[in-house]
Amino acid sequence: KIDAFIFDLDGVITDTAEYHYLAWKALAEELDIPFDRAFNEQLKGVSRTDSLELILERGNKQQDYSDVQKEQFASKKNEHYVTLIEQISPQDILPGIKELIDDIKKEGIAIGLASASKNALSVLESLGLRESFDTIVDAGKVAQGKPHPEIFLTAAEQLHVDPAHCIGVEDAASGVTAIKGAGMFAVAVGDGSILSHADYIVHSTDQLDFQTIIRLYKEY
Ligand code: BG6
Ligand code: MG
Repeated sequence: KIDAFIFDLDGVITDTAEYHYLAWKALAEELDIPFDRAFNEQLKGVSRTDSLELILERGNKQQDYSDVQKEQFASKKNEHYVTLIEQISPQDILPGIKELIDDIKKEGIAIGLASASKNALSVLESLGLRESFDTIVDAGKVAQGKPHPEIFLTAAEQLHVDPAHCIGVEDAASGVTAIKGAGMFAVAVGDGSILSHADYIVHSTDQLDFQTIIRLYKEY
């Protein structure tokens, strides 16, 4: 029995993971800290402040800045990110996502969002998807970020469903860990070598097929 699908936002519903990457890369380079896509994988799903700490740690510069300076860096990254997402429209919904949401709805299954981003609501609204979600849990509503399961458990609780009857969809290693920690079936989109702890992995969102996911969940 499946009660709910709980989706991550950035990198699953839309390609904002790329914008987070570009904005962090610009800040890191300004601070003379090397930044590449492999390192960026560690930042996916991770909160704004924790991401900044990981970047500074990588450059051995954690002790070089005051809390006030760190807040300024985080704000600068966010201002850049916000300019990058200004133009987002329903055309930016990743391939296959709309179809998947429609199939889930047709079956009367609930849909939740579990996003670590404080910009989640604004992105969903730009995509015209606000109404497709029965509940939205974002960074403001949980104490512990991914990989802690709290955000997925909170979404299940708000939907009044058993986590064991939920399917989580993620593109981040930290997110897959959170889904598994919540006792849910984990579907991952992306690189199998990074997301190998998921129950089912696809390379891109256009491979997310409702019937296939349901079949694998039942066999699980
Ligand atoms: C997650 C992204 O969804 O949100 C991370 O995967 C990002 O890359 C995090 O750092 C926090 O986002 P924001 O918009 O609150 O800075
Ligand atoms: Mg993501």
